[in-house]
Amino acid sequence: MPRYAYVNGRYLPHAQAAVHIEDRGYQFADGVYEVVPVYQGALVDEGPHLDRLERSLGELRIAMPVARATLELISHELMRRNDLTQGMLYMQVTRGVAPRDHRFPATARPALVMTTRQTKPHGEALVTQGIKVITVPDIRWRRCDIKSTALLPNVLAKQQAAEAGAYEAWQVDGEGYVTEGSSTNAWIVNAEGKVVTRDASHAILNGITRITLLKQIREAGFELEERAFTLEEAKAAREAFLTSSTSFVLPVVAIDETPVGNGHPGILCGKLRAGYLDYMASLEDRPGGMA
Ligand code: PDD
Repeated sequence: MPRYAYVNGRYLPHAQAAVHIEDRGYQFADGVYEVVPVYQGALVDEGPHLDRLERSLGELRIAMPVARATLELISHELMRRNDLTQGMLYMQVTRGVAPRDHRFPATARPALVMTTRQTKPHGEALVTQGIKVITVPDIRWRRCDIKSTALLPNVLAKQQAAEAGAYEAWQVDGEGYVTEGSSTNAWIVNAEGKVVTRDASHAILNGITRITLLKQIREAGFELEERAFTLEEAKAAREAFLTSSTSFVLPVVAIDETPVGNGHPGILCGKLRAGYLDYMASLEDRPGGMA
């Protein structure tokens, strides 16, 4: 079955889908994106992802390329065409195609691209053995709350992690506080058993997985603090974990080769992951089904 991509109004075979060389996303990274998880055929938290897309676009003064209801229709149609059951839906909006000039073009229309990718469930080892993270200085701009396609520092950080045999790189700000991973949010369970994750500000992307998990943590009655934590505190933590639309909740067992807690995935992290998977499995937004 051919795989399709959506490009500015058309569903095209993935291999032939292309944008113009003067798309401002290509030349200036002048655009934003979203990654929406798809689990057992359902889009996870589509509404909050679209809210964040609209917010990112608003911050950059890029118009919505199509109405929100149309975005939802295209998402479901692409999932249906690609028979997507597990993986992700990617959407990207740029300021459009125009002769290269830093100033906003007067006439360009925002460009919309959507793709899907089918992925296998995480290997058991990631969950049962946990993952390692390294740390890198956070060299990004000061608007990390915008989900911009300008990801060069994140790309370099993730590559450095991969070369060190680690799953992720946690970025550390000038004061020694962890901001977030290159494509994930960072969490610890401190010595007192409190879950700690950095508060949402311009310093991090406010992850949708983060927001959903915060709600679940509050509902379950676990103690929680939304505040910055230092790298030192993270290394001394009882547990650590990370969250994202593609990683869900994964236990971190070493930071820069320092074991976290007893060096094994934490118990609380295991509960939170299980709760998050249950939540995803309970969703009913299936393409062609009840939206
Ligand atoms: N990354 N922080 C950063 C810098 C991210 O890029 C992401 C998501 C997150 C987690 O956000 P969410 O829970 O909404 O996925 C945090 C996506 C998955 C990516 O770039 O592929």
